[in-house]
Amino acid sequence: MRVPVTMREARADDALFLLGIWQDALRMADAQEQLGDLETIIGAADASPDQRLLVAECGSEPVGAVYVRATTFGPLNLEPTVQIFAPHVVPSFRRRGVGRMLMEAAVAFAEERGIRTIAAAASAGGRDGNRFLARIGLGAQAVMRVAPTAVVRSRLNVLGRALPHARLQRGPKQSSAVGELLAARRSQRRSHTVA
Ligand SMILES: CC(C)(COP(=O)(O)OP(=O)(O)OC[C@H]1O[C@@H](n2cnc3c(N)ncnc32)[C@H](O)[C@@H]1OP(=O)(O)O)[C@@H](O)C(=O)NCCC(=O)NCCS
Repeated sequence: MRVPVTMREARADDALFLLGIWQDALRMADAQEQLGDLETIIGAADASPDQRLLVAECGSEPVGAVYVRATTFGPLNLEPTVQIFAPHVVPSFRRRGVGRMLMEAAVAFAEERGIRTIAAAASAGGRDGNRFLARIGLGAQAVMRVAPTAVVRSRLNVLGRALPHARLQRGPKQSSAVGELLAARRSQRRSHTVA
């Protein structure tokens, strides 16, 4: 059964509701810090014409939210794009059209600006989110891979030890080995040119 839902911009006192539904979307920190983040996000969205943080309400009860921003597809691809983050409906109101209304509001935001591309991300294992986004026409374009910096650093170090050229670039002994290698290559190239 569809429910009568209205959409409004988030206010500072929505932070607690948003904390409840966006737990997974926020940085890992204690609740107080996360609340602080949400207050910052609400304030920034309120102050910027290029961002909107929308709350869906049934009566006066908040039942869902979404954050949208007008930007480019990425730092290199400057196609104007509306990015949609974390559309979420509280479990007891799902499959009643609230999610569709959140996405409609995001699409209207793009249309108002003449922006022709919409992008949204869903976690790889989130079946509901992926089905929902696929149903409204959003195809999968990229896989975002994430790891702690320290993990990537240690993997790079392991990789570096396995690569011969990296071994050659360490310490005075190795740099003389690099010099020898380069000299050998130069003389090889010279003999090719002469021949
Ligand atoms: C995904 C989510 C926002 C959908 O909200 P909703 O209010 O249930 O969606 P709607 O009722 O507007 O559904 C619109 C259509 O989307 C499709 N849809 C929605 N949820 C779906 C699901 N779990 N599986 C398959 N299709 C789904 C259906 O076609 C549905 O129409 P129908 O109910 O007439 O069949 C909601 O399930 C949710 O908050 N999930 C947890 C958070 C999440 O995954 N967010 C998405 C991250 S990108």
